[in-house]
Amino acid sequence: MKKRDIALILGAIAILAVLWAAPEESTKKVPYDDTHSKYYEIAHKDGKKAAEKFCEECHNANGVPFPEGHPPKFRCLFCHKLEQTH
Ligand code: HEC
Ligand code: HEC
Repeated sequence: MKKRDIALILGAIAILAVLWAAPEESTKKVPYDDTHSKYYEIAHKDGKKAAEKFCEECHNANGVPFPEGHPPKFRCLFCHKLEQTH
């Protein structure tokens, strides 16, 4: 493989890495507080999909409202990452 090809591949990987990391950096994490810590346990035990079932019990138009222009809300934990707890 030529040196130039390797440079191109490394460049592409760097761009992908930035794009991949961006949403995680910019979207608020799920706070690790009294309200949310039990969903951390569920996520770690039964998976994120099981934990997400509960989010909309509070996060809805009559509870804790979403900010205007919030993206489609399926799979909360895909965008809102959990804090590192250990
Ligand atoms: C029992 C009610 C309740 C449930 C269930 C709940 N939340 Fe929350 N959430 C709150 C309240 C109240 C706030 C605002 C105050 C706070 O930060 O605790 C909040 C705030 C947030 C925030 C914003 C944090 C910030 O920095 O502004 C995110 C993100 C969030 N919740 C995600 C989730 C996700 C994802 C789930 C499901 C795993 C979930 N919540 C389940 C009550 C709840
Ligand atoms: C496609 C990605 C995506 C999904 C899925 C998603 N969100 Fe969000 N959410 C965002 C973005 C982007 C913002 C605004 C920027 C930020 O939070 O930093 C936001 C904002 C919020 C806020 C307000 C944070 C604050 O204090 O400003 C809450 C609360 C929240 N989302 C909860 C949820 C819950 C609960 C779910 C699942 C029912 C969910 N989100 C699903 C991307 C997403």
